[in-house]
Amino acid sequence: MPRIAYVNGRYLPQSRASVHVEDRGYQFSDSVYEVCIVMDGGYWDLEGHLARLERSLGALKIAAPMDRAALQVVMKEILRRNRLKNALVYMQVTRGVAPRNHSFPPEGTPPSLVVTARRFDIRQSDARAEKGVAVISQPDIRWGRVDIKTTGLLPNALAKQAASEAGAYEALLVRDGHVTECSSSNAWIIDETGALITHPKAEAILGGITRQTVIACAEELQIKVIERPFTLEEAKAAKEAFLTSASSFVMPVISIDGTRIGSGSPGPVARRLREAYKAKAANG
Ligand code: PDD
Repeated sequence: MPRIAYVNGRYLPQSRASVHVEDRGYQFSDSVYEVCIVMDGGYWDLEGHLARLERSLGALKIAAPMDRAALQVVMKEILRRNRLKNALVYMQVTRGVAPRNHSFPPEGTPPSLVVTARRFDIRQSDARAEKGVAVISQPDIRWGRVDIKTTGLLPNALAKQAASEAGAYEALLVRDGHVTECSSSNAWIIDETGALITHPKAEAILGGITRQTVIACAEELQIKVIERPFTLEEAKAAKEAFLTSASSFVMPVISIDGTRIGSGSPGPVARRLREAYKAKAANG
């Protein structure tokens, strides 16, 4: 069965789904996106992802392509048409199509919406989390508003490629000696006292929805969370480290630039948080 994509009001086999050559998402990365995970037919952290999409659109003054209720209909329909119960759903909204010109197109130009879905196998993620992952550090060369979830991801792609070439799962992005986040996830360490440390929500990081839910899980488990920047040296000396994202959940980190973290295997706190996150996200 071919994969079906939603493009501006139509459901099409992905091979026939296309956007205009003068779409501003294509020409200027003038677009925002969300990635959501669906397990057993239910969207995880749905409210958070919808709210962040609206925030990203608002920050760039891109009109919403439809209201929330209509978008949720599309989000449901894309699963039905692809016969998926466990999926990774990608949604992208661009400022629409207009003759190439840096300034915005005329008011009323309709935004473009693309939604795709593919199979997501949680067992692969669980198997990876059992072993833990290696990460490397890379310079954070991104622009100043990475809190907006735009598709302008070239620096992220370059950092992830460097990680792949080094046999690592992710790249820790470092600016002025401090770890901001990773190329497509948020970064966390656990200090001597067992407290979680992660960069505060700011224009220098994407405020992860998983990050938000993990903070709530930590509070329930009475684990202290300190939101402050930490250095690469601190990270290498940490008791445990992990990263979070919609598709990685809580992923234990066992080495940074070849330096072993803690015992060199997934730590107990990261493991506990992964289970707590999965339980919480599954319950909405
Ligand atoms: N990435 N930081 C960056 C730079 C990200 O791209 C992401 C998500 C996150 C984590 O956000 P969340 O917990 O809401 O997924 C942090 C998605 C998964 C992606 O680009 O595929």
